[in-house]
Amino acid sequence: MCLPTSLHRFPARAFLVAAFFIAAISNFEIAYAQDRKLTVGVILPLSGAFADQGKHYEDGIKVFQKIHGNKVGNVVVETVVRDDQGPGSGDLARRLTQELIQRNKAQIILGYSFTPNAMASATLLTEAKTPAVIVNAATSIITEKSPYFSRVSFTLPQIASSLGTWAAKSSVKTAYTIVSDYAPGLDAETWFTKTFEAGGGKIVGSVRTPVAAMEYSPFLQRAIEAKPDAIFAFNPGGDVAVAFMKATKERGVTKSGIKLLVTGDVVDDNLLPAMGDSVEDVISALHYQVELDNPANAKFLKGFREMFGANAVPSYRVVQGYDGMALIYQALEKTGGKTDADSIMAAIKGAKLDSPRGPIQIDPQTRDIIENIYIRRGVQKDGKWVNAAFETIEAVKDPAK
Ligand code: PHB
Repeated sequence: MCLPTSLHRFPARAFLVAAFFIAAISNFEIAYAQDRKLTVGVILPLSGAFADQGKHYEDGIKVFQKIHGNKVGNVVVETVVRDDQGPGSGDLARRLTQELIQRNKAQIILGYSFTPNAMASATLLTEAKTPAVIVNAATSIITEKSPYFSRVSFTLPQIASSLGTWAAKSSVKTAYTIVSDYAPGLDAETWFTKTFEAGGGKIVGSVRTPVAAMEYSPFLQRAIEAKPDAIFAFNPGGDVAVAFMKATKERGVTKSGIKLLVTGDVVDDNLLPAMGDSVEDVISALHYQVELDNPANAKFLKGFREMFGANAVPSYRVVQGYDGMALIYQALEKTGGKTDADSIMAAIKGAKLDSPRGPIQIDPQTRDIIENIYIRRGVQKDGKWVNAAFETIEAVKDPAK
């Protein structure tokens, strides 16, 4: 080869070293210029009695990616979705978690609508060192079961304690509780009772109902006979909640002068058309209602309605899916595209988001969400039933931690 005269004088060793560094630098540049990938394993109930709920979280994920695209920096965010079929032993959710991590190389999980599914997957997430953003499951203790859990939904103690405190200061002297008989129901019963009694209230009776119960008349009849000032109720939403609310109307709960207080998932905005006037004057507590007037909610609603129709009403579960993705995107921004578990967890702890529900933060200590809780009343507006907020309790932490 004919080299320029100056290079003839360049010692061969130095030439090789220089060539090595040039090659190393360009490989580095190629690696960084190329898109990398983050696989999000999504686990939701997409069949069975709660299939509509799974679709809501998935819709939220889609709306977020429609507005924000599928890339953060040069990381392409890809989802692989699996169906856990709703509440059960949690075995299926655990198996799906394992498959997503091992087979699909998911680096993060977004999902778990039901408490048993999150609980059953906890040790696996810890062993595999895989972060999981809980999209709904709302029993307080879940986030203590793995250091890789964080939560973008709520806890039942957050909601039920806000309602118990409100009831005690609102001339409700006695209450009867009706909750679904599994962990979140027990959390709801415990924290409503604790805060209601702390404010001077008295519980005159309580009953626990099967998780997917569709028949509430006998339970309500017994509650009415106990003549409480109020009935407090929790159930996991969807058709179960519609059946519960219709039964309260048929049994004439509010007609008998009894106030109805429910966790807000029971009167989710998107269920109100099916519930009709059974929601009149019902008091509920939750972190989101479609009526919220803030720029983040306006942006979310615009994206949601472009995808699902001008008159579509989002469930609060859509917002949780949307915020779950927002949290993952923010974490990637903070890590500068690093996708290892420790970097992602460090970025999630203390993360702040401007959510459609108002400002939210992931508590750096507990990895649970800190958010506003709204106390709402069922009222008719422009011919439609809505949850109208009349009190805001700001920056509520999970009181059970
Ligand atoms: C839960 O299983 O933790 C759960 C499910 C549905 C809800 C609330 C909590 O609406």
